[in-house]
Amino acid sequence: MKIAVVNTKGGVGKTTTAIYLATVASAQGKSTELLDADPQGSATSWAEIATEGSAPLPFQVSPANKITLSRASSSDITVIDTPPGAADIIQAAIDAADVVVVPTAPSGLDLQRVWPTLEAAAHKPAGVLLTSVELGTKLLELTKEALESEGVFVFENVIGKRQAIRQSFGTCPTSFFGYRDLMDEIVEVTK
Ligand SMILES: Nc1ncnc2c1ncn2[C@@H]1O[C@H](COP(=O)(O)OP(=O)(O)O)[C@@H](O)[C@H]1O
Ligand SMILES: [Mg+2]
Repeated sequence: MKIAVVNTKGGVGKTTTAIYLATVASAQGKSTELLDADPQGSATSWAEIATEGSAPLPFQVSPANKITLSRASSSDITVIDTPPGAADIIQAAIDAADVVVVPTAPSGLDLQRVWPTLEAAAHKPAGVLLTSVELGTKLLELTKEALESEGVFVFENVIGKRQAIRQSFGTCPTSFFGYRDLMDEIVEVTK
């Protein structure tokens, strides 16, 4: 199964989500790879720093482009991290995917960018992942309702705003902060 993590906006948690989902899949015993389609190579840097720090990520991170993205994969789970902006690579990642995850913070400004991203993924199972969420706030419920009233699928599992997630760049995650339940939900909705 190929999971594309996509949002035309930067800084919304794409790379973080891609790394955590791939780590969870590995921990569940699935053969896993991460394709880094972002020319900035944030996921690749994450993996390199983790390797230097003696706790390497439990999966391969490989650079990918429009052509390699569409190749068949022998892994159980392939997670694709994508750049912001670059419409052609984003579209290629969506086209290659079985399911599309669109992370966004629950703020009006961030949500604006969700619409063009979802449009590009209209032909695939796709859902919005609310992340960097301040749990228990009204904003979360309001955002969810606003999206759902427009017919958008929103993952039941949301990811809280956590210092520990922010600090985990370049390390191998050992706590999964809701990403394990999210992975199960992704598999479930893709059936
Ligand atoms: N759930 C979270 N809680 C706190 N900080 C987060 C969370 N998810 C991501 N971040 C932080 O937000 C910033 C942007 O995340 P990143 O995954 O690089 O986004 P993108 O790949 O979309 O540009 C990073 O500093 C990252 O550590
Ligand atoms: Mg990124």
